[in-house]
Formats: sequence, C-alpha cells, structure tokens
Amino acid sequence: MKIYFAPMEGVTDGILRQVHHRIFGGVDVYCLPFHKLTQSLSLLTREIRDVSPDENEGLNVLPQALTRDPEQLSAWLYYISECGYSTADLNIGCPSATVTKRGRGSGLLRDPDYLRSFFDRVFANTLPVSLSVKTRIGYDSPEEWPGILDILASYPFAHVTIHTRTTREQYTGKTHPEAFELALRKGIPHPVYNGDLRTTDDVKQLTERCPETEAVMIGRGLLADPALARRLRGGPEASGDELEAWYNTLYRGWKDRFGETIALGRIKKLMEWPVGEDIRRKRLLRRACDIESCVRAAIGE
Ligand SMILES: Cc1cc2nc3c(=O)[nH]c(=O)nc-3n(C[C@H](O)[C@H](O)[C@H](O)COP(=O)(O)O)c2cc1C
Repeated sequence: MKIYFAPMEGVTDGILRQVHHRIFGGVDVYCLPFHKLTQSLSLLTREIRDVSPDENEGLNVLPQALTRDPEQLSAWLYYISECGYSTADLNIGCPSATVTKRGRGSGLLRDPDYLRSFFDRVFANTLPVSLSVKTRIGYDSPEEWPGILDILASYPFAHVTIHTRTTREQYTGKTHPEAFELALRKGIPHPVYNGDLRTTDDVKQLTERCPETEAVMIGRGLLADPALARRLRGGPEASGDELEAWYNTLYRGWKDRFGETIALGRIKKLMEWPVGEDIRRKRLLRRACDIESCVRAAIGE
C-alpha cells in the first residue's frame, strides 16, 4: 500500500520531511503544503524554497496549489514542471473560512457547475504534468458526494485524495468511510483514503472494510507517532533514541532557519500530538522553556 504524508501548512516543511525520512522512513510521498496562487503568480519566498529540489533532495514529493482560476493553475503547473516534477496536486478540500469564502479550497465544492467548468478549462489543453486532486465529500452534507464524484470521474486525475468529511465537519467528529467505498465502486482513478488514520489498527480496519484500498494519506497520526508508516510496513516502533533524535534534530533545523523562539513554538505545537490528553505531560510541555524539558514531556520520561 502506498503511504502519503499529508500536507500540513506550518508543520510539514522541508526540514521536517528530511528529518522524518532519515530517521523513520516508510513514507512513499511527502505532500507539500499548498502554494496560494495569486493574479501576479508571484510565490512567497518560503513557497519557492519549499518546492525547490535542494529542499527535497532524496524525497519523493508532491507540490500542491490552491486556486479557483484555471489560468493561474495552468501557469503554476508549467512552473512545477520546470522545477522537475511530473505530478502536482490541486487542493479542493481546505475547509478554512478565509479560503472558502473566496471560493477556493473546499469552497469550490459549493458550486458544482463552476467546479465542472473549471476542470473543463483546466483539461482543455495538454497539461505539462499530471494533475491529482485532494477533496472533501461535500460542503454542507455528505449527500453532495455522489454529485461531486460524478464530476471528478469525468477527468483524468493521477489520483484523488478523499478526506472523508464535509467542510462543515472540519477535522473532528466521525469520518464517512462509506464515501470512500462509493468512490471505489464508481471507479475513481486511484483513490487515496484520508481521515483519522492514527494507528495500525485504524488502517487494518479500513483495509478489512475496503480491501481494494491502494493508498492512504496520514497527517496527525504521523505527528503523534512518526514511526507509524514504518510500522504499517511491518517495521519496529519508534525507540526512545529515535524520538530524541527526531525532536532534537528538528529543533536544531528550525532554530537555524527561524531562530530560537519560533523553533521552540513549533516544536511545542508538534509535541501536542504525542502528548495527547495526558494531563501531566500536557502541563510539563506547557511549562517547558527549553528543548530538553520539551523532549522529556513528549517522550514521557
Ligand atoms: C495544521 C494543518 C495544516 C494543513 N495544511 C494543509 C495543506 O496545506 N494542504 C492540504 O491539502 N491539507 C492540509 N491540511 C489537511 C491535512 O493534509 C489532512 O487532510 C488532515 O490533517 C486530515 O488527515 P489526518 O486525519 O490524517 O490528520 C492541514 C491540516 C492541518 C491540521
């Protein structure tokens, strides 16, 4: 089974991707957080760095764009092709209100007629790279999903990642695995399951329910347990030494790039995932003001 590391803006940058690959591995494709496309097509310095070959040496990565404009997307796909990539992703699943109110991300799911005309225009010309898409199963209700699937099934996407919630449901509450089953039944090209795969048991349950599952995308599960992808391939759990190396190397990388304060803020945010609801460790993490005490809180020693 193919494993994608989900894109998470402000978290899964080049430093995290490289350190993760070196220490834990098990991931086939690291997905890049979106480039927010604009009229002028000028990307931010950090977006240019994130997609640069230097930043991603030795990794298989998938760049992503956020736009509702076919011309912007087309120009960006040429840029991505010049950077040496052969596949790129379009985000039509971001649920953030600042994004959807401008009709981007999952805001596109609100207007199926526009979504269809958008893809008609995107695919009217030969694309310089293959295009994949990352979607949700509706804006207000899962009842929108069959209509969205009909649209997605009309175009030659490289793969379709499905976060099995609606925009309204954001990132919490029950997922809708039946929506993924429907995508499999409809013969959507290479569906990738995404949503709340936190443990090896979660993936086992999914593959028991949907044995045709070819690929999964995991985000928060890999932040909580960076060895999860390796374990899904039958490898060992993360050792204490590996976890220490993971946090210390990440901290050093972020400190060199962003300075001490931002690096400590980022590492604490990341550590909220392994710490979870453990009250004692949460308190330790909140009070920690150096990397050593953060690591003690995260590893629980
Ligand atoms: C902080 C944060 C940033 C995210 N940034 C992106 C992004 O840039 N592009 C994207 O497609 N999804 C983004 N997502 C969604 C994740 O890729 C993923 O779909 C989501 O976390 C659900 O998967 P999970 O349950 O395995 O974590 C983000 C999620 C979070 C929590």
